[in-house]
Amino acid sequence: MAIERTLSIIKPDAVAKNVIGQIYSRFESNGLKIVAAQMKQLSRADAEGFYAAHKERGFFKDLVDFMVSGPVMIQVLEGENAVLKNRELMGATDPKKADKGTIRADFADSIDANAVHGSDAVEAAKVEIAYFFGA
Ligand code: PPS
Repeated sequence: MAIERTLSIIKPDAVAKNVIGQIYSRFESNGLKIVAAQMKQLSRADAEGFYAAHKERGFFKDLVDFMVSGPVMIQVLEGENAVLKNRELMGATDPKKADKGTIRADFADSIDANAVHGSDAVEAAKVEIAYFFGA
């Protein structure tokens, strides 16, 4: 089993719902260690840069508007197969389709406000971690 690192963001909707601790508890009880963290109010430039790969998609402006609507909690998670493990804990992008017991099923209201982000691959995680935490 590979020890990996992945980038996680608790989005403005979940921060506003006061569930950071409940989400952290899911990471910790599933073998993911929080090895770096910062609470941050993203600027538009921060959000546009982070989601640059999606800039041609119809929802890009809504996604950026949402991500700057309040503070986010950004963390690096470390553990065995951390990238996939975190994606499993998060559940599907659309909370209506997310499995019962996943973070999005339990805490997200809609595909626009879906509580958490997680890197989708090890290489993406390296880029995303460097984006917020540097080398
Ligand atoms: S994913 O999670 O990358 O597989 O999903 P994808 O469909 O490629 O979506 C990329 C990011 O855009 C968000 N998203 C949306 N935001 C607002 N409105 C709509 N309709 C929408 N659809 C997708 C989705 O949550 C992904 O952001 P992150 O932060 O990675 O979850």
